[in-house]
Amino acid sequence: MGVFIIDGGIPLKGTVRISGAKNAILPALAACLLTEGKSVLRDVPDLEDVHTMCDLLASLGAKVDFNVEKREISIDTNSVTEYTAPYELVNSIRGSFLVMGPLLARKGRARVPLPGGCAIGSRPVDLHLKGFSALGATINTGHGYVEAHVKGRLTGARVYLDFPSVGATENILMASVLAKGQTVIENAATEPEIVDLATMLVSMGANVTGAGTDTIRVIGTDKLTPAEHIVIPDRIEAGTFMLAAAMTGGEITIENAMSDHLKPVIAKLRESGVEIAEELNCIYVKAPERTKAVDVKTHPYPGFPTDMQAQMTAYLSQAEGTSMVVETIFENRFMHISELKRMGARIKIDGRTAIIEGGVRFLGAQVRATDLRAGAALILAGLCAKDRTEISDIYHIDRGYESMEKKLQTLGARIVRV
Ligand code: EPZ
Repeated sequence: MGVFIIDGGIPLKGTVRISGAKNAILPALAACLLTEGKSVLRDVPDLEDVHTMCDLLASLGAKVDFNVEKREISIDTNSVTEYTAPYELVNSIRGSFLVMGPLLARKGRARVPLPGGCAIGSRPVDLHLKGFSALGATINTGHGYVEAHVKGRLTGARVYLDFPSVGATENILMASVLAKGQTVIENAATEPEIVDLATMLVSMGANVTGAGTDTIRVIGTDKLTPAEHIVIPDRIEAGTFMLAAAMTGGEITIENAMSDHLKPVIAKLRESGVEIAEELNCIYVKAPERTKAVDVKTHPYPGFPTDMQAQMTAYLSQAEGTSMVVETIFENRFMHISELKRMGARIKIDGRTAIIEGGVRFLGAQVRATDLRAGAALILAGLCAKDRTEISDIYHIDRGYESMEKKLQTLGARIVRV
């Protein structure tokens, strides 16, 4: 299953390059189903979730070639004949539910297993299905599958999202680009990954305006041409390395990072005393002598990202003073706290609020990654502990961080994978 062994206490120094974003590449892969022909995606990270998504597209009949060395995936969707996504692939990554919209748009039908819940919450898909119904699809759920079909083409509609769901926005956007007429998605998610998907769809000939705002307008087209698309850098990976430098008393340069995508994280770290310089395509981070406690509340973009909450909880355990962290997006995203407490953290949980007593010096321990970002939080704590930390179940970490230990080694960290 793989274990990371970390002998911490080393200030991180040097330069690290951020990989393409997991949460941009997954919808981009699904979007290739909207066209016939060969699409090419570039700067693709070598992540478990990307391989799983490639297997899913192949199971639908696409010819997928993931050249890991060149960081490039080519997908020929001429031969997509299937419209049923296999259970074992959908069950392993939630992002695979994103094939529903494109299959519905392209084939008029889709049959996808209901994605399971995961460590961080139940993660329903009701908003996705509400959107597909509004576009004219008939939805049936049963035996753990969702089946959607439409006679002929989808018809454009006005869709209001009760919550600015990232996945629902992406799925409905992809379904709408081949629908007849205009679609308006209101209260849409505004994450950079939505903008990146819209950019790719427009390059394929779609008519999409307003991505990045809470109202996205689409005028359906009859056909889309294959894409050539470079995915945006992973803002969560960049944020994680920013915290790693700030927590270990280090000084690093993060290349291929778009500071525009990290405004709330940069603001909070500056508030906490960290020195940050934003260049065109990179971010420079220098740790202060002591970091100060700050309060954090997660919100949909452009608020503080929920995907940085676990890492920030580890960071605040070391800061001077007491902090409060409120997780408003997912109902169970404090799984990392019990593991951090095994390393000396002093945190009290009250519902969706965590009260963090600062000034902790982490101590090495044997801990377990319970989900992707919780695993990242444990790595951060291990990098600070003067003695040895062993993190098990690191497959969670490999889902979203490319060669994490190699990148940390280039910054001087003593971390090995066994
Ligand atoms: C995406 O998940 C990301 N995953 C998540 O990243 C991220 O945490 C999340 O957005 C929020 O930013 C991918 O992009 C593959 P949501 P998604 O739909 O789309 C509720 C990571 O660590 N909801 O915005 O599933 C839901 O229960 C992962 O990289 C409904 O109620 O997130 C949750 O409380 C974890 N009904 C909230 O919305 C729906 O139909 C946010 O979910 C859909 C969502």
